[in-house]
Amino acid sequence: MKQEIRKAEHEALEALNGASDPTGVRALKARYVGRKGAVTKLLRKLSSLPAEERPETGRLLNEVKKRLEEVFEKALQAFEADHEETLADALDVTLPGRPVARGRIHPITQITRAICEIFQGLGFEIVEGPDVEFDYYNFEALNIPQYHPARDMHDTFYISQKIVLRTHTSPIQVRVMESQPPPVRIIAPGKAYRVDYDVSHTPMFYQVEGLMVQENVSFGDLKGILTTFARQIFDEETSLRFRPSFFPFTEPSAEVDIRCVICRGKGCRVCSHTGWLEVLGAGMVHPAVFEMVGYDTDHCTGFAFGMGVERIAMLKYGIDDIRKFYENDLRFLEQF
Ligand code: PHE
Repeated sequence: MKQEIRKAEHEALEALNGASDPTGVRALKARYVGRKGAVTKLLRKLSSLPAEERPETGRLLNEVKKRLEEVFEKALQAFEADHEETLADALDVTLPGRPVARGRIHPITQITRAICEIFQGLGFEIVEGPDVEFDYYNFEALNIPQYHPARDMHDTFYISQKIVLRTHTSPIQVRVMESQPPPVRIIAPGKAYRVDYDVSHTPMFYQVEGLMVQENVSFGDLKGILTTFARQIFDEETSLRFRPSFFPFTEPSAEVDIRCVICRGKGCRVCSHTGWLEVLGAGMVHPAVFEMVGYDTDHCTGFAFGMGVERIAMLKYGIDDIRKFYENDLRFLEQF
């Protein structure tokens, strides 16, 4: 029996010498000192020995078992330490990280936000309205009845006879006045839609609408507010020109040009050699519009304006084709 024990120990140590990975060591551990291992089996045989041999053989067996368990455990620990060392070698934590491609805010959104911020600073509140609009708000309530020739200016996308994609942000004026009494001071950014496509028109474009109504608002206030705005969005040297124009919902009406920011008024390709660029429509709110929303025309006056956001962005960044904003060419978009 003692010989058997020594033999098992010897074999186990030999085999361990040849083990090359932790899995191998674990298998050996099971084979010798596991529940069905060789040394464990010898322990069970103890009871068949003559009584006087049992204590000594038992002591020896227990010693061997303990020693083997320790040796296997140490071997496993050694493998683990080795493994950690290799991992540390393979991982160079000082390498610079790979750059992650970052998205950015679209230039039109950037300009829309900048415009709104300037007007917020002047006491205007931001509101919004639906893109899909009733004919009533888009035309009728703005003093453009059915069959009015002014409808031809709008190249409307019709959803049905009574529903359109709004052709401008002016219907928001009506919705706001319908829902609250004066004073009103709002700015309304949003999309507008017209059947049109060339270097300066896309079927969907952005406008920012402004409306101010209270007692004694004058055309002078309109000029002051718009001039302040233009000097903030462009620069202090910017000047504005008001040209008489026509909109059914304002009287008097004006188209507003800014001195060309590219050539400073000398004349260039962008301003068609006029020195001026049209950026917005404006005017004093027509009494017919006030009547439609139930405002007292004896006690309030107001001005409204609507500007093209792409137009402002093109001028600010010197872009000569509006369609570039909507082609999603990253080489273009990444510049902003
Ligand atoms: N809604 C007009 C347009 O889209 C612009 C405008 C707004 C004009 C408000 C006057 C007052 O052309």
